[in-house]
Amino acid sequence: MMNTDVLIIGSGIAALQLANKLRQDLNVIILTKSNIKNGNSYMAQGGIAAALGINDHPSKHYMDTIEAGRFHNDSEAVLALTSEAPSLIKDLKQAGCLFDLDSEGSIALGREGAHSENRIVHGGGDSTGKTVIDFMLSKKNDNVRIIENVYVIELLVNEADGRCRGVKGKDSYGKIHRFFSPHVVLATGGCGQLYEYTSNAGTVTGDGIALAYRAGAEIADMEFIQFHPTLLYKDGKTLGLISEAVRGEGGRLITEDGKPVMKGLHPQGDLAPRHVVSQAIYHFLNKGKTVFLDISPINNFKSRFPTITEICEQNGVDLTLGKIPVSPGSHFLMGGIKTDLWGRTSIPGLYAIGEAACTGIHGANRLASNSLLEGLFFGKKLSELFNEQPPCETANDLHIPEFEGRRPTKECLPSIGEIKRRMMKNAGIIKTKEGLSAQLAWLKGFGAEEWIKANLDDLSHDEATRAFMLITAYLITDSALRRTESRGGHFRQDYPFEKHEWLGKKIIQCRYSKKD
Ligand code: SIN
Repeated sequence: MMNTDVLIIGSGIAALQLANKLRQDLNVIILTKSNIKNGNSYMAQGGIAAALGINDHPSKHYMDTIEAGRFHNDSEAVLALTSEAPSLIKDLKQAGCLFDLDSEGSIALGREGAHSENRIVHGGGDSTGKTVIDFMLSKKNDNVRIIENVYVIELLVNEADGRCRGVKGKDSYGKIHRFFSPHVVLATGGCGQLYEYTSNAGTVTGDGIALAYRAGAEIADMEFIQFHPTLLYKDGKTLGLISEAVRGEGGRLITEDGKPVMKGLHPQGDLAPRHVVSQAIYHFLNKGKTVFLDISPINNFKSRFPTITEICEQNGVDLTLGKIPVSPGSHFLMGGIKTDLWGRTSIPGLYAIGEAACTGIHGANRLASNSLLEGLFFGKKLSELFNEQPPCETANDLHIPEFEGRRPTKECLPSIGEIKRRMMKNAGIIKTKEGLSAQLAWLKGFGAEEWIKANLDDLSHDEATRAFMLITAYLITDSALRRTESRGGHFRQDYPFEKHEWLGKKIIQCRYSKKD
């Protein structure tokens, strides 16, 4: 058993920003289920959005965020995020983080989809996540301890006051450890690996969402999944992200006959919001055609995009031919664990930041390069909340009830591949009532609802992952079925338009809800 002042689950940009900004008299533990660098933040290519250009202003960034989010955003949250973005970048730069510079020595600003200005700050060309995470790790203070290879399987909620007091985790030998803290922060990322085609790291399996839901936290907006338009696509598989920044530098989407994919579909053409571009590409792929990203207009491709060059070369794509075959794949969860503007969830003592959280920033569809920004912003906000509080006493006389629901046999959990294939088919880019209903029935058939209340102590890492995936898939499918309109990342073929009556309406799921 271990006690700490702040316990952070996950090790991406939000987690490290929080840890680095906390008072140094606070003991902090970061728990991560694998290696510290094995997550989405480290892989992030494009960059961080901030209104730094001379013609730019946070109000323009605000409007672009709301427009991309199809007016489902929390405007107060967006205002706070976009206003603070420039100072978050300047702080990092001043502290020594090496962003790419232009010929005049100012921060170079790239362009991505649905932005009205060049405002994408990047590092290492197309390895912004690596640049920032390596920098943050180099600045880690001694009060922060990182523990790798511990898989959190349960949040410990005290019966008497309903407060989250810690977590139960398993090490790689299967031994259970309990960690106690007055502040438990989920920074576990989203759930991209629930889909067959994804840009996400293998670790991003929706654990944090499932953990929070099992504990009774409110979950919101799970139907809003963003599919990034351009993942390298070869032999029926997606093999890594091809950043939107490539289209920002002049790359164009073309069909196999060389026709422009986006012509006449949106005023922003190839740089239209992601859901628009993804649906356009999907339309061709669904007919058995191939879609390419024509990179021939970009002169300095290899030096501007070294990571993408490596991904293509490793997978046998000859860049001298000037085109990369692409497909959309799941990229980002706009929904998640519902929080306020400080990162507080509906359970006292439990917080969520980064992609795991649903703060309302992204609305129905996240604007490009607002995700690393969100991590920086909320990591800092939550540190301010904790830094202002006196150190908490260690709680005694806790009573943490065990999960006692009837449990399906673990041998019957579906395989990860099967979950991913079915989610892609039935709850993916284009959804229908029939597909979603079939998916929900399939998930229920594997005991998704029973796994919500079942004890997981004797499950292996792989089995617990599959149970969490089942629960998170259930939450996505259920809310996608309930939202009878299309908005942003949520497209229902049977309800293809936005509906006024759904504007601003959230689907909130909570296993202790009075409505259930
Ligand atoms: C990209 O580089 O295209 C992804 C950046 C993002 O998701 O914001």
